Amino acid sequence: MTSKHPHTTPVDALTADEAAAELARLAEEIAGHDARYYQEDAPSVSDAEYDALRQRNAAIEARFPALIRENSPSRKVGAAPSRGFAKVRHAVPMLSLDNAFADEEVEEFVARVRRFLRLADDAPVAFSAEPKIDGLSMSLRYESGRLVSAATRGDGFEGEDVTANIRTLDDVPKLLKGRGVPPVCEVRGEVYMTKTAFLALNARQAAAGGQIFANPRNSAAGSLRQKDPAVTASRPLGFFAYAWGEMSTMPADSQSGMIAWFERCGFKTNPLTRRCDSAEALVAFHREIGLNRATLDYDIDGVVYKVDRLDWQERLGFVSRSPRWAIAHKFPAEKATTVLNDIEIQVGRTGAHTPVAKLEPVTVGGVVVQNATLHNADEIARLGVRIGDTVEIQRAGDVIPQVVRVVEERPRGATPYAFPTICKCELKTPLVRETTAGGEEGAIARCTGEFACPYQKVEHLRHFVSRRAFDIEGLGEKQIAFFFADEDLPVGEPADIFTLARRDEQNFKKLKDKEGFGSLSVKNLFEAIDARRTIALERMIYALGIRHVGETTARQLARAYGSWEAFFAAAKRIAAGDAEARGDMDAIDQIGDAVVDAVAKYFGESHNEGVVERLVGELNEIVDSEQPKTTTPVAGKTVVFTGALEKMTRDEAKAMAERLGAKVAGSVSKKTDFLVAGPGAGSKLAKARDAGVVVLTEDEWFALVGESAP
Ligand code: IVH
Repeated sequence: MTSKHPHTTPVDALTADEAAAELARLAEEIAGHDARYYQEDAPSVSDAEYDALRQRNAAIEARFPALIRENSPSRKVGAAPSRGFAKVRHAVPMLSLDNAFADEEVEEFVARVRRFLRLADDAPVAFSAEPKIDGLSMSLRYESGRLVSAATRGDGFEGEDVTANIRTLDDVPKLLKGRGVPPVCEVRGEVYMTKTAFLALNARQAAAGGQIFANPRNSAAGSLRQKDPAVTASRPLGFFAYAWGEMSTMPADSQSGMIAWFERCGFKTNPLTRRCDSAEALVAFHREIGLNRATLDYDIDGVVYKVDRLDWQERLGFVSRSPRWAIAHKFPAEKATTVLNDIEIQVGRTGAHTPVAKLEPVTVGGVVVQNATLHNADEIARLGVRIGDTVEIQRAGDVIPQVVRVVEERPRGATPYAFPTICKCELKTPLVRETTAGGEEGAIARCTGEFACPYQKVEHLRHFVSRRAFDIEGLGEKQIAFFFADEDLPVGEPADIFTLARRDEQNFKKLKDKEGFGSLSVKNLFEAIDARRTIALERMIYALGIRHVGETTARQLARAYGSWEAFFAAAKRIAAGDAEARGDMDAIDQIGDAVVDAVAKYFGESHNEGVVERLVGELNEIVDSEQPKTTTPVAGKTVVFTGALEKMTRDEAKAMAERLGAKVAGSVSKKTDFLVAGPGAGSKLAKARDAGVVVLTEDEWFALVGESAP
């Protein structure tokens, strides 16, 4: 079938103009998927759909080599590291693998290797065939046998430093075993979570109102990117070693020899790994693994074949982002056909309404599937799916199956699905679709009920007590989940936290007698709650959980309005549609329409107003925001902090600078006045020096502002 839309036109039929436009579109779309996969651990398409986009990109480039773009996905691996962790440059880049899907492509791969090496027809070539683990690749650097750093792949050249978290993994030796370990060894492999651990983690997260992960890969990624290594330690992650980066000397001369050496050093390697010596043997191994895939306790998405001899690997080398000596033979997406019985709406923690396909149960890849995601209203429209239709579904690496298309003539009388316009909660709050940064209507429909919507309450409460908000000691996620469900002392909104002690006094069944509590812990908890009856204005605004109002925005608002009364009055006027109040807020530095709209929606919801008023009634004082000083040596200046600060945390440094009237920026630019550099400062320091920015040590900074370390 051909279509007028270039992105469904077969590659052979594309004109050069269409191909150029299509390559631009693919580059953008793939970059978006990369960011969601690598940085947000929240992919929005299946692996198979993603692979199809990359394949199409490659096929168009093969036909129109002159049109290959500078930013082509074929020239990049993954996505740049996300913010929050220090960056590590890989001594040897961490590249990616080319994919094969059909058996013939494996034969071509073997033939290509033979041709490249000019091997005689009867000369043997051995391959190491290894399950392709669907986790995250990791580079572990050992110096003198000691683990010194661990980095994610990132964009292949620069990853994130996750050393503290990686140290909590049992499968990662802190010291390499055996004598004669090379002085520098970079061991690479895959961090993964077992399916059992993933299901248990999601069950725990659901009970505690935490983040639910779509598949083991995402939960491994999320667990590894924790700020607090203790959280990573509580999540069971495994590691299989299969590759290396910088090595001061090589302990073996083959891939299989290296794998044996990893084991001697104390690593786990994948037990299914096998040496094969022909394309037929590789394909047979792939089939065998494919059949057993569902019985493995970890996800795999294919089999990787690597030329075993390292001297041959070296001769074969690399083409752009992948080695010529290896290929990933992917498994096809597992598909099945079934009937869509119903569409149900699930309400997430942020009020997002996600349509879920309720299916006639069907087995896909060894798993019985009854639910599949339909993503959002636009996806339902795109598929043109109606209740009663026969649909094709697929599971591709992902645990959440997806509806791919409608396959059969629809039964008569099937009516189009009408996406709800109000929330499922008893308040029947209208749903809104947010405007995206590009000014378009977003795909996700959300309930604006916030604190009043039962689906969102727990999440809001967790946010309310979090460290940067009310920060109540002894009242974390676990306790919030407990009180939310407790019959004697229920907590459904922030004010309820402040009435806990009073209510407990009146109750017959006391909190101190409940499991997990005791007299002392209850006393401490009530004292900690009382201590927060006085709260800083910016914390108060941040704690409300208004969409788009993060910590920085909350601080801007607090500074601009100065007092709770002024802020609350303005917010109510904005909610009532007062153009002047709206304009005033819009005029605040760094505040734009998204924030003003969110404030309008939040305070326009009468339930929220009640929630806020009851909370304020429980507080003693909302401390006015300190106006930034204008007489300090750094007032109005822009400061960048970089490197490992030793005398204060990043948060403390930022707070101090802002209190003194300075603006804190994340990167060095023409506007930067000071760069405060701790040890290990890298590119920012070099850039600052080039730009003639004043560079200070921490001590020089304290001397400048006339204060000592916090
Ligand atoms: S070798 C230069 N071996 O697949 C090639 N990769 O698409 C280095 N992976 O980033 C990779 N199992 O995350 C290799 N046995 C295995 C693997 C494997 C999983 C992942 C890895 C890599 C990606 C490449």
